[in-house]
Amino acid sequence: MNERDIIQQTAEHVRQLLSGEGSGHDWFHIERVHRTALAMAGEEQADLFVVELAALLHDVADWKFAGGDHEAGPRAARSWLELLAVPTVVIDHVCEIIASLSFKGAGVATTMRTLEGQVVQDADRLDALGAIGIARAFAYGGHKGRALYDPAVAPESHDSFEAYKKNTGPTINHFYEKLLLLQDRMNTTAGKRLAAARHDFMDRYLEQFFAEWEGKR
Ligand code: ADP
Ligand code: NI
Repeated sequence: MNERDIIQQTAEHVRQLLSGEGSGHDWFHIERVHRTALAMAGEEQADLFVVELAALLHDVADWKFAGGDHEAGPRAARSWLELLAVPTVVIDHVCEIIASLSFKGAGVATTMRTLEGQVVQDADRLDALGAIGIARAFAYGGHKGRALYDPAVAPESHDSFEAYKKNTGPTINHFYEKLLLLQDRMNTTAGKRLAAARHDFMDRYLEQFFAEWEGKR
């Protein structure tokens, strides 16, 4: 099978797995990340085959929905790519990217070894920012039964992945615990540029949110 067919079959496989998912990890998230990653990969001259496969497969078995199993994502990606007889070096690279992608708390470094990984991580993070990022945060919070906001619960800075995972705070806190921190963690020039614009939009959103909360606007 040639690379085009592998990409096409993988996209179809993921679309079937994630269609109708209600927590913000649905097929359209994958489609956006794939498109953004592809555009950034061109600009950064990253290997397109690896970038496309990692973007398409990055959320097939997220730990948040796999009973906390961190190996589930890379494992699911590996079985699929083996089925398509993708070369082992490509499979290893894609699985390494998927395993290191996630944000793990304000105090936990999440470095990406390769340019391809950096591109996919930026594309995934961009989709957590801006208007779509805001929508996804509240969709996730609703899915988990979280409050929108509670003035009595202050945001935390998590120094371990364990602490970050255990957190059940209101969704507005997630902006301070993750979303507003992403701008400074972008890897690529294109990623930094896009993140800055989306970050500004979230700043304006929060300002309006708190003004409305206090009945001032
Ligand atoms: P990443 O792609 O960095 O792994 P996640 O999979 O953790 O991101 O998050 C997917 C989406 O769900 C993102 O838009 C993220 O902001 C949102 N999300 C994750 N945790 C929370 C939370 N505690 N409250 C609100 N939204 C969340
Ligand atoms: Ni994702």
